[in-house]
Amino acid sequence: IAGFFIDGPLAGKHILVTSGPTHEPIDPVRYIANRSSGAQGTSIARALVALGAHVTFVTGPADVAPPDGVTLVQVETAQQMLQAVETALPADAAIFAAAVADWRVASASGSKIKKRKGTLPTLEFAENPDILARVAQMPSGRPRLVVGFAAETDDVVAHATAKRQRKGCDWIVANDVSPATGIMGGSENAVVLISDAGVEEWPRMSKADVAMRLADKIATALTV
Ligand code: CTP
Ligand code: CA
Repeated sequence: IAGFFIDGPLAGKHILVTSGPTHEPIDPVRYIANRSSGAQGTSIARALVALGAHVTFVTGPADVAPPDGVTLVQVETAQQMLQAVETALPADAAIFAAAVADWRVASASGSKIKKRKGTLPTLEFAENPDILARVAQMPSGRPRLVVGFAAETDDVVAHATAKRQRKGCDWIVANDVSPATGIMGGSENAVVLISDAGVEEWPRMSKADVAMRLADKIATALTV
């Protein structure tokens, strides 16, 4: 039994997983964020651990509990997530399931912004670093396999294919998160996997099953 956790096709491999949303402060009591429960990223980390990988799990403030058996790094903002990812490298593979806020408030207030009659606050934004693109385009020490996600509400395959090109990652796991699909915050997912081999459409299944199927594919990619 003692050997259980180091057995499996991913034994000896280090895999980085980002998950959950990031929170970007407006002031000490307010923030902007993306909608993300962290469920899919957590399931993926769990599936990779089950295959024997050493997983560094970098997560923003998610709704679901982090998986067991990982090296857990909890962050709040995109800038902190980038820092944690850079610290965790090198890795054999990096899976970017986090819903990173594209913008942060340029100068967050150190004290609570008070409501005042007749005036409305104006927020100025700054662009956050694209963590996936940075890692995918590393000039040296790039993980062998870099996987991004693309949550879209229309033209899923076209947007995700362009995103894969633009970011320079190996695979994109794309899904349609239109409210009608019920995927956001739900327990199921319907994804399309885009790689240089083409477009693979997976049937709708539980997030846990998506995670296991993806982990199997990652194991195959890292062991050939
Ligand atoms: N991502 C990241 N850092 C960011 C933004 C996104 O690492 N600052 C990663 C996400 O974790 C995901 C992938 O990039 O794996 C795609 O994120 P997405 O928001 O779909 O891409 P964007 O380039 O931000 O495009 P969009 O305008 O559609 O938001
Ligand atoms: Ca984005």
